[in-house]
Amino acid sequence: MSEAAAERGEPGTPLVEVSHLKQYFPIKSGLLIDREVARVHAVDDVSFSISPGETFGIVGESGCGKSTLSRCVLRLLEPTDGTVRFAGRDITDLSRRELRPLRREMQMIFQDPYASLNPRKRVGQIVGDPMRLHKTVPKDGDGAAKEAVKPRVQALLERVGLNPEHYNRFPHEFSGGQRQRIGIARALALEPRLIVADEPVSALDVSIQAQIVNLLDELQDEFGLTYVFVAHDLGVVRHVSDRVGVMYLGKLVEVSPADELYSRPIHPYTAALLSAIPIPDPRRNQARERIVLEGDVPSPIDPPAACRFHTRCPRATELCSQIEPPLVDYGGGHLAACHHPLNVTPADVARATIAPETPASAGDTMPQLGGSEAGGTVAGSSSSSDPSSSSS
Ligand SMILES: Nc1ncnc2c1ncn2[C@@H]1O[C@H](COP(=O)(O)OP(=O)(O)O)[C@@H](O)[C@H]1O
Ligand code: SF4
Ligand SMILES: [Mg+2]
Repeated sequence: MSEAAAERGEPGTPLVEVSHLKQYFPIKSGLLIDREVARVHAVDDVSFSISPGETFGIVGESGCGKSTLSRCVLRLLEPTDGTVRFAGRDITDLSRRELRPLRREMQMIFQDPYASLNPRKRVGQIVGDPMRLHKTVPKDGDGAAKEAVKPRVQALLERVGLNPEHYNRFPHEFSGGQRQRIGIARALALEPRLIVADEPVSALDVSIQAQIVNLLDELQDEFGLTYVFVAHDLGVVRHVSDRVGVMYLGKLVEVSPADELYSRPIHPYTAALLSAIPIPDPRRNQARERIVLEGDVPSPIDPPAACRFHTRCPRATELCSQIEPPLVDYGGGHLAACHHPLNVTPADVARATIAPETPASAGDTMPQLGGSEAGGTVAGSSSSSDPSSSSS
């Protein structure tokens, strides 16, 4: 769709479109001349789009490239290859100056509320600074700015559940949950359209996590926000996300509407992540077979060939180490990149097509049912990988 159409907010225009995005970090060495000796393949040919008002969850173990991907979406990094579009506009090659007006529309909430707030600034200043910087309030000088900012900051503090009287306090006077509320108020200060929340509750007590997640949920409805919500465990994203993308070693291996992902994981890596979520009912927990992920994520400097998960996957066959599986569209917005998928029938495979989002390096081999563990129970769901008993 055209930029003008996107600006008018015509239905169907994604707010964010990421296409074949790559972010490699060079590793340099050498005494006199800086030579590139290797590259970290942090994000490697990832494509997806997000509709206005939607929450797109990104999950995967630590080091899989989630933060790098979200920083690319906000153009805080300059991608190695591929494109990023925001509201229909290609922002991949914009300069810092050209990006500046867009900064108002895209904000970030960070994982660590301790590190992300300047300890020497008062709360009023932290939340009000973006307004002054982007001149959404009158210029400093005769006190007009101060008068304009304070009530707006106080209203924001109140909206995120803080006492507006605490305007002059310093971050250390607040608890972890309250500091994250300050971070949320700061992100809202410029009335953005997109908020990227990078593990916003990972550093908080479990009891506080739900409060912050609920607050983000309410704010989304109130301000019509679009979220990218990054988390390293699937349990947290479950209730907030409309759709979830699962990342493994720089690749998007599965994308699905959230509910469907939990009831019918197709990629073995997703099933393994799901099986790590505790089930409250101990009987069900015992009955469920777990896929335990052995070892750590391999190095993204020299990632495993073909399917990057083959060194840890219980279903891997020879094919998996020879040809990269394409990202296959199973319908209903459910995509997965696996040669031996779980929870699909032969009929599902017959109807499936290779998605346009598939990486350029992937092959065009359609999935084959059954891997080296064909017939085994699927972790994290009650269905089985046996096609005869799986959902359709
Ligand atoms: N600026 C950087 N320079 C070099 N390597 C980086 C840089 N930022 C991240 N990485 C590497 O990229 C990979 C992905 O990191 P990251 O995006 O932070 O993953 P996640 O957020 O999923 O934990 C990691 O191996 C990390 O060490
Ligand atoms: S079965 Fe093969 S293609 Fe699928 S995730 Fe495992 S290693 Fe990768
Ligand atoms: Mg991260």
